[in-house]
Amino acid sequence: MITVRFVTPGPNGPIDDREVQVPADGRSLMKAAVDAGIDGIAADCGGSLTCATCHVFIPEPWQQQLPPPSADEDTMLDYTAEERRPNSRLSCQIRLVPALDGLTVELPARQY
Ligand code: FES
Repeated sequence: MITVRFVTPGPNGPIDDREVQVPADGRSLMKAAVDAGIDGIAADCGGSLTCATCHVFIPEPWQQQLPPPSADEDTMLDYTAEERRPNSRLSCQIRLVPALDGLTVELPARQY
């Protein structure tokens, strides 16, 4: 198991900040978040890379730890509800492995 921290930023600091223990067995960050009851990830398509409602922001230094987005993920990132940033990712495409212990994930204000 690894620890992943989900932060929902607000205008006056985080409005939610949760650490959850998740298996590092290659499952997606999206699945781990949904299983942990993280509200900020909708994941309407269930991970088939067609909805862009699993949008997250990955702060440094974690962004460097991840493989870059595939061409398909990069294309879908143009359809996120909250405007895409340089550190935007689709959480269904991020595989959880032991090296990501301590990963911090920022959630967008909206997925629709
Ligand atoms: S769950 Fe739909 S694109 Fe990630």
